[in-house]
Amino acid sequence: MWRRATLLSSLLPSSKASVLNQEKGRIPKKEKPPFITFVLGGPGSGKGTQCAKIVENFGFTHLSAGDLLRNEISSNSENGAMILDTIREGKIVPSNVTVKLIQRAIESSDNDKFLIDGFPRTEENRRTYERIIGAEPNIVLFFDCPEDEMVKRVLSRNQGRVDDNKDTVRKRLEVFTSLNLPVINYYSQKGKLYKIRAVGTEDEIFEQVRPIFAAVESLLKLYDDSTRSNKDLLIFKVP
Ligand code: C5P
Ligand code: MG
Repeated sequence: MWRRATLLSSLLPSSKASVLNQEKGRIPKKEKPPFITFVLGGPGSGKGTQCAKIVENFGFTHLSAGDLLRNEISSNSENGAMILDTIREGKIVPSNVTVKLIQRAIESSDNDKFLIDGFPRTEENRRTYERIIGAEPNIVLFFDCPEDEMVKRVLSRNQGRVDDNKDTVRKRLEVFTSLNLPVINYYSQKGKLYKIRAVGTEDEIFEQVRPIFAAVESLLKLYDDSTRSNKDLLIFKVP
């Protein structure tokens, strides 16, 4: 992993980078840094639906933090019971558990552009990702949706989830407002946040998303394998 870690570390101040380079047990797989998009928004804001469209149109790999956690429950992993209890209560799973799942999924993929959906939920999630992965996202999407619309969507979607019920959705919304909004503000201040007005039909919403990824696609084309530099990607701005 040291080789990829070195590339990722070009995003970081040198002190953090050296910590990253000391981490053991990672296997070098990719030589160019992945393009990472965090996808934020409350429960039922349409993150998953829009991610599917981005995958279809722009070839990203979609990693839903919630799905990765639910897979841990169904695979009876050592953390499965704790994750189930946490999700049932609408609370946040310890950051190192979630980040390790994301890290594993990125490293086992052949793709180099990812949508990480439903993450980071908290400032602690965000800091843990930066510490373990050693990089910041390139861009952050925020699906901004009125609360009553989110509740309506969650209660009508019928996906058999233990947390799609009236009581838990209320708790998830409280957690979103108190813990996720600071993360959104953080990325807004860094100039990385792209806010989408998440009302209307799926296609109408996607028309706000499309130009962002069209610009990303053109930018990525400018950098071939040997010259792509995350420094350049970081100053990327959608016109
Ligand atoms: O994103 P999604 O709605 O699928 O998340 C479902 C639940 O998974 C959350 O309410 C939370 O309990 C848990 N989760 C978490 N940390 C994340 C993402 C999801 O604890 N970063
Ligand atoms: Mg989802």
